[in-house]
Amino acid sequence: MSPKVILITGSAKRIGAFTARYLHQLGWNIVLHYNQSEQQACELAKQMNAARADSVKLVQGSLNTVQKIENVAQQSIEAFGKLNALINNASSFYPTPIGSVSENDWTNLVGSNMQAPLFLAQYCNATLQKNNGVIINMVDIHAAKPLNNHTLYCMAKSALVMMTQSLAQELAPKVRVNGVAPGAILWPETTLSEEDKEQVLKLVPLQKLGAMQDIAQVIDYLLNAQYVTGQIITVDGGRSIASHVKA
Ligand SMILES: NC(=O)c1ccc[n+]([C@@H]2O[C@H](COP(=O)([O-])OP(=O)(O)OC[C@H]3O[C@@H](n4cnc5c(N)ncnc54)[C@H](OP(=O)(O)O)[C@@H]3O)[C@@H](O)[C@H]2O)c1
Repeated sequence: MSPKVILITGSAKRIGAFTARYLHQLGWNIVLHYNQSEQQACELAKQMNAARADSVKLVQGSLNTVQKIENVAQQSIEAFGKLNALINNASSFYPTPIGSVSENDWTNLVGSNMQAPLFLAQYCNATLQKNNGVIINMVDIHAAKPLNNHTLYCMAKSALVMMTQSLAQELAPKVRVNGVAPGAILWPETTLSEEDKEQVLKLVPLQKLGAMQDIAQVIDYLLNAQYVTGQIITVDGGRSIASHVKA
């Protein structure tokens, strides 16, 4: 039997790249999507293909318009001729204080976090149906509780939670759709002061950042959990249930 194939969007670096390596080691073939991080994507693909020949294919593209999303989906399906799973991981993340929000911010934040997951699910649905496939959406604990000055991002992730539940119903019984809601795993690439980081960690009962492995393990669980659909698994060290702020 040929290896199962997974498309992971935005997987040239950080959580997407770690997850790609993790699943590759478990035997998956990977469609590694990237937009701007060409060098990191090529290096990662080279390393994984060296470990197992022809097991990783690259697909480049912005996810900001429906036409571009369709191109990414088409190339991803053609890469190995099928998809068994899709991880909607690509995400833009930056503050949009009210008064400063532009149409470009809307296109970028709603485009990557909400529009792309929907249209990728739509374009990949036929191959996923054929293969009893799985969709995993990367959401955020801030889909349920707003992050100050990040209204557009939180709106988009919140819609992605509803999309997860709605598509889980619509695509059953063949395709399962779930989500992972990370808390603080990797600090954003934009600068955060040490004081800001300390403040965030004080809100986490387990008192540490999560590891990328914590996310990859939950993704692996969801890929295999045959009776789980429409669920969001929170991986946040208890932050979302914390009832007090640590001194
Ligand atoms: N990091 C955390 O602690 C954390 C916390 C909560 C939720 N999450 C969620 O977990 C997922 C992974 O997090 P992360 O921090 O590893 O992600 P990230 O580094 O912020 O973004 C992943 C990739 O998304 C791609 N991307 C962004 N906008 C795009 C667009 N318009 N079109 C196409 N690709 C685009 C970028 O690809 P290129 O570099 O190739 O352009 C980027 O490398 C995300 O969905 C994020 O929202 C993460």
